[in-house]
Amino acid sequence: MNLEKEYENQQKWRHWERYLEYIPYNEDDVVVDLGCSVGNVSRLFSMRVKKIFGADLNRNFIGYCKAKSQQNEIYISCDISDFDFNLIDQLSGVWASFSLSYLKNPSEVIGAIYTAIKRGGWIALLDVSCFISGNMFKDCDHYQSVRNFELESYKSGKYDFNFGSKMQDLLINSGFEVVYQNNDVTDLELNFDGAVSEEILQNWKARLSRLKGMQRVFGYEYKDICDEIISSLNSSNHEKRGNVKFIIAKKR
Ligand SMILES: C[S@@+](CC[C@H](N)C(=O)[O-])C[C@H]1O[C@@H](n2cnc3c(N)ncnc32)[C@H](O)[C@@H]1O
Repeated sequence: MNLEKEYENQQKWRHWERYLEYIPYNEDDVVVDLGCSVGNVSRLFSMRVKKIFGADLNRNFIGYCKAKSQQNEIYISCDISDFDFNLIDQLSGVWASFSLSYLKNPSEVIGAIYTAIKRGGWIALLDVSCFISGNMFKDCDHYQSVRNFELESYKSGKYDFNFGSKMQDLLINSGFEVVYQNNDVTDLELNFDGAVSEEILQNWKARLSRLKGMQRVFGYEYKDICDEIISSLNSSNHEKRGNVKFIIAKKR
């Protein structure tokens, strides 16, 4: 499965509109969607605000978004870490779902947003916590080693599998005031009760086959780990455990 197809599939399971209900946006807002990928959230904002900028490192995604963009949607291929928020006139809102977890310097980026955003402006972050281990049974053979792998990944400046748990402190430390928070968001793929559907399981298999860093660390053990993850996802005893968190904050 290619990445566009994998990400397009995920859009069906996210139910984005429910997040927008809590965001204090208005029709004059100028919003940035950081790590917009295939652009579904950007499109939802484009129907509700004055202008939306979608930014992503992946040029294919940006090309894909540009090809179907509306007049008030602007797509930029760039690294979020280098994004100059001051260049967005009247920036009043920022959305970042499952993207700041990729950054080495999320606090610098959130600080730069705070500086550039208008008073009364908002930031909404949605991200994972214990992304992989949170979907494994705690008593399975490799639970602890996967948990350790997640922590090591962060320490070595790679992907932060627990970024969701840090969002509140990062926002407050940058000067934002938290106005809404849900630390256990139901997500049909990432944080749910019961067994996954066959379609979602196929997406998980595609994800597991592209986690090269994890494959390298675990070597021959990786297949057993994948089997444990898949068996947990497939089990009626699978439980949601705070793996997805959502927070909205404002600049007073
Ligand atoms: C897991 S996807 C989430 C996509 C989308 N926001 C969503 O919630 O469906 C992460 C996205 O962030 C982008 N990304 C990762 N690191 C980035 C960076 N440093 N700068 C810009 N985009 C980045 C990836 O290309 C990818 O499209």
